[in-house]
Amino acid sequence: MRAWVAPRYGPPEVLRLQELPDPVPGPGQALVRVRALGLNFADCAARLGVYPRVPNAPFVPGMEVSGEIAALGEGVAGPSVGTLVAAVPIFGGHAELVAVDARFLRPLPLGMDFVAGAAIAVTGLTADHALFTVGRLRAGERVAVTAAAGGVGTMAVQMAAASGARVLAVASSPAKRELAATLGAHETTGYGGYRGALAGGVDVVVDAVGGSVFRAGWKALNPDGRYVLYGFAAALGPGRVRYLHAAVELLRMGVMIPSAFVQSTRSLAGFNLSLVPHLAGELQARFARIEAMLAGGGLRPVVGAVFPFERLPEAHAFLQSRASTGKVVVTV
Ligand SMILES: NC(=O)c1ccc[n+]([C@@H]2O[C@H](COP(=O)([O-])OP(=O)(O)OC[C@H]3O[C@@H](n4cnc5c(N)ncnc54)[C@H](OP(=O)(O)O)[C@@H]3O)[C@@H](O)[C@H]2O)c1
Repeated sequence: MRAWVAPRYGPPEVLRLQELPDPVPGPGQALVRVRALGLNFADCAARLGVYPRVPNAPFVPGMEVSGEIAALGEGVAGPSVGTLVAAVPIFGGHAELVAVDARFLRPLPLGMDFVAGAAIAVTGLTADHALFTVGRLRAGERVAVTAAAGGVGTMAVQMAAASGARVLAVASSPAKRELAATLGAHETTGYGGYRGALAGGVDVVVDAVGGSVFRAGWKALNPDGRYVLYGFAAALGPGRVRYLHAAVELLRMGVMIPSAFVQSTRSLAGFNLSLVPHLAGELQARFARIEAMLAGGGLRPVVGAVFPFERLPEAHAFLQSRASTGKVVVTV
């Protein structure tokens, strides 16, 4: 098979298209013939070597794919060979074939194509976990969503609006804000106007940007407010990791005094979906919830750009450049 290998950690240009032996599915795994792959910001972080549990280089990045089951490993009862699936291998998905833990795949909803199928799993599950499990968002509450026009953000805006919350979408360009508005955001703002837009308070913030953006949202939380931090995009720039810039952004988040949380009656929680221990057991139920929203028309995957497999490094550079909207998908 062909696979995009990161021979060392670094910018998109380090990626090399290579011939590798076909993977063999181990016990509990399914082999997926990849038809499309959904690019995640985490793939950029993995390529840069700053993602949790990233394999030593050389390695094949790739968190998320859609495709067809080609073979089943020992102890896997289904879905059967030939089933079209969305799958989350975490690593290894930038390839024509990938072996995936069978708990982390799901048959594609009937009629859904591979491009859309590569855009629903990580975005849907992350937005759902951030808003409703960790954020405990309720109808009538006001929620701020940062990076609202991105892959996860476009799902979060739609899900929050559909739940009856009032959505403030935060995004860096007018085109991104316009997209968020078409997806149901009631209010939009750029980062410059974010502090002002938060006047009046906010009940929940779902934030994957962090840095100085965190500070504004944290200060604006209403009593019983929940701040859900699930990424630190502010630390990355185009190209390499800028450690000095990341350190400054970290300092801008401020100093936390735990005892002050008592009187201010608010909470701060972080998560990385791939590290939530009980998630594997709940995954199918959560997938089913997202599929019901997709089928009901209240949710749609937003694909902003599609690249061919041979140009995958360009797709990486595009996502990391901050110019993308919705999900960036690569077809195989
Ligand atoms: N914890 C988890 O389990 C989990 C799971 C999935 C994703 N995530 C996180 O969720 C975020 C969104 O992921 P995604 O894959 O859907 O990516 P994405 O939102 O499509 O792209 C990242 C977005 O982050 C914003 N951003 C802010 N500062 C940036 C910077 N310095 N460089 C580049 N982008 C910057 C940009 O939106 P604006 O220009 O509008 O700011 C950009 O569009 C990422 O931070 C990712 O790490 C976390």
